[in-house]
Order: sequence, then structure tokens, then C-alpha cells
Amino acid sequence: MYDVVLKNGLLNLHGNLIKADLAINGEKIVAIGEELEGVQTINVDGQWVFPGAIDVHTHFSLPFGKAISRDNFYTGSVAAAAGGVTSFIDFTAQEGDEGVIDSLKRRRAEADPDVVIDYSLHACINKLTDKVRKQIPMLRGEGVSSLKIFTAYNKIGRMQNDDNLLELMEMCSKYDILLTVHAENGLVIDLLTDRAVAAKKDGIEALNTTRPIFTEVEAIRRVADFAKFTGCKAHIVHISSGQGAIAFAEAASDGAPISGETCPQYLYLNNSLFKENNGHYYSCCPPIREPGESEILWEILGRNYIDVVATDHCPFNKSDKNMWNGSITTLPMGLPGVETMPELVLNGVHKGYLSLERATQLISENPARIFGMYPEKGSLEIGTDADIMVYDPNRVRAIHQKELHMNNDYSVYEGLEVLGKTTMTLLRGKVIFDEKKGFLGEKGSGRFIRRNEPDESFFG
Ligand code: URP
Ligand code: ZN
Ligand code: ZN
Repeated sequence: MYDVVLKNGLLNLHGNLIKADLAINGEKIVAIGEELEGVQTINVDGQWVFPGAIDVHTHFSLPFGKAISRDNFYTGSVAAAAGGVTSFIDFTAQEGDEGVIDSLKRRRAEADPDVVIDYSLHACINKLTDKVRKQIPMLRGEGVSSLKIFTAYNKIGRMQNDDNLLELMEMCSKYDILLTVHAENGLVIDLLTDRAVAAKKDGIEALNTTRPIFTEVEAIRRVADFAKFTGCKAHIVHISSGQGAIAFAEAASDGAPISGETCPQYLYLNNSLFKENNGHYYSCCPPIREPGESEILWEILGRNYIDVVATDHCPFNKSDKNMWNGSITTLPMGLPGVETMPELVLNGVHKGYLSLERATQLISENPARIFGMYPEKGSLEIGTDADIMVYDPNRVRAIHQKELHMNNDYSVYEGLEVLGKTTMTLLRGKVIFDEKKGFLGEKGSGRFIRRNEPDESFFG
């Protein structure tokens, strides 16, 4: 007799749906088979049983301009659980000159008491100081195997120039740390933005004119070239354009050790939304793009080039966005998404853009492998954490803000019809979300995940 048995589900084993029961003892998956018996039986009746989804790009409580992103580690992780996400990776927030271990300790102190699912942090560097240089070699000992930098946002003190990029890549290569990069050409963007402000053309449509697609394409190619030169494994976050995705795929095929990520907003939204009354509610960096770019992104996703879908979850209320005074220079950038990501990707399976195997890799297996958490996370293998998302593939519904758990007051997908819905989420063997009962987990019961090095096979 097992502790818990999920009965009559279709287990998603690498994209193959197998009718079988899944048994859990304590926190681990211990058996897959027929007619298994448990002290607790959960009948999932023909629903799909996935390894829990993993979002490797969230920004909980991120200050941006005059606002702070509306989800904290508690509300954000509850929303994640409601969507079937069982692990996430957020970022440390360097203050002044402090070293990466110091900011890691501070951010963990903020997250540990609040998280309801398991999590890790990318060590984020705004300023490459001597303390940072000294502490990078200690990161792996703290269970952190990724750094994060920006090649944009100079005016808010977050940009790394090429010399720092090269130095950081050399260090990451030496210590087997994955360098995750927000890749845009920040200096060109700043020049175009200054010109737009001077010409009083800095309304929402300036997001596209000041951040033209070539600024993303150029930065992706540059990061890929630096990665190839230094041997550093680099992960390009939030690829927003079809052309950026093509540049990424070409560089990867040409031997650059890079993995790539896109986000649902770039797959589902385009900049015709900027023409609406409140177009600024859709602001993020890089921006949503011209119609036609999403289709290319879907195609490249389906063809196994981009490796991960994450969210860049950074939600603001309408009132936060409304503080912008008509200028993108004072607009908090970012969109909500941690809760809706698994369903939006799986909707791509129903639409014929992705195979089920591919979608499962994108939302669970690949993030676990690339960020050093596999197979404990991102698999249904015997002996690993029983992190599970149960998904009803037949549910037709439209996304509505009032049904979501994220802590902001609008959804960028309001009214969008999707097929399929997350109905239950288990974290290490415990049901933490049930669509009928709501959230059942406990504040602080999420654990910090000590991560290993990135999986070589993505960077060969
Ligand atoms: O608009 C965005 N993406 N806000 C969050 C910060 C970032 O660049 O990822
Ligand atoms: Zn970014
Ligand atoms: Zn981000």
C-alpha cells in the first residue's frame, strides 16, 4: 500500500501518454503500474499527468521605476501552483557594490519564509565589482549554477558593456556556471529613446521604434559570438521576435554554446494592441512585436531550436502602468504570466504548433536539464520528487482575470480561448492546488533547490 496513488490517468512519459497509475511514498514517485493501491487515492480519470512545470524566469517584488512588481514570493508562488508550476527561478537583487553571495543571502531570507513551491535564484549582477569577482567562485557551493546579466538598461544601472561581458563569460566558463543574458543593444536603444523623447514621440508605440528588432538580433549574435570564443554556456532569455529566434538558431547551429528561451507574450500578442486605449498595459522589454513575428517563433519552437518557454513574470496593476505620464521612459515594464504559461504552451499542442513531447520539454524537462535540476525536477522517473501537474486536455475556456490568482488587476490574455486546464498540482507528494478546493499548500513549505551544472547536451 502506497501513501498516495494517482489512478486512471494518462501519464505523460516524454510525450507518450500511457494509461497507468502513479504511486507516491513520502515526497517521491515510487511506482508506475496497474491497479496500484494507496492510503489516499486520487482519481484523475483520463486526465494527463505531467511532471510539474518549471518557470526559470520570474520577477517577484521587482522594483521598476516608481513601482514594484505586484507578486511577492508568496502570492506569486501560489499563482504558479494554480497553473501547474512546481518550481521557479527568480533573481537576486544586487545592492550597491555587494557581492553575489551577499545578495543571494538577502534574497533567500526574503523568499524562504514565503515560497509555497520549490525555487532557486539566478545570481543577478548589475555592477561588476571586486566583491562580485571574489564571490563568483563560491556560487556553486551555495547551489547556484547560473548568473544573470543585462546588455541593456544602462540608465537604470543594470547594463554590462562588452568588456564585462567577456570577463564574466571567462569566469562562468571556468566555474561551469550558465550565464543567462537579457540580450538587447542597450546603447542604441538609449540613443533612439533620447531622440524619441526630444521629438515628443515617446508614447507606447516608441517601444518598437526605440527597440527595433535588429537591437535584439545584434545582441543575440554578439552574445553567441562571445560564448563561442570563451566557451561559456549562455542562455538567452525572452527572445521576442521571429528574427531574433532565427539569429539564435543560426548561431546555435554554428556551434555557439547557447540555449534559448521565449515567453507566451511573444507567442500570443502583437503590437496592434498598442493602438488600443490602454496599449501601455502591454508594455514589456523587449516589446511585443509586429504581427507575423509570433508565427515564426512558434515554427522555430516546434522545430527544436528554442529550448525553453518561461514567463518573465513581472506583473503590475493598471495604476502602476498609469503613472507613466505618456512616456515609455517612466513606464514600469513587465507582464503577468506565471500562472497561465503551461496552459498557453499546451494550447499550442492542440493548435498543431507543437508535439506533446516538445511542449513537455519546453515547460518542464528542458528547464530542469539546462538549469541543473534534472531528473529530480522535470521528470516522472521513479525515485524523483513527486512534483506533478494534472491537466484536463478537453476543457474549453476563455482566460479571465477574475479566475486567476496572480496579484495584479488585469490579464493580457483576457477573453483568449484556450483548450485544456490545469486541475491539480502536487509538490513533493502533497496536493497543493485543487481547482475545486483552491490552494492547499503552506506558506514557506517550498524549498531552495541546490542546482548542478547545466546539461552539456544543450551546448555541444
Ligand atoms: O519588461 C520586463 N521584461 N521586465 C522585467 C525585467 C526584464 O527585462 O526581464
Ligand atoms: Zn529582461
Ligand atoms: Zn526578466
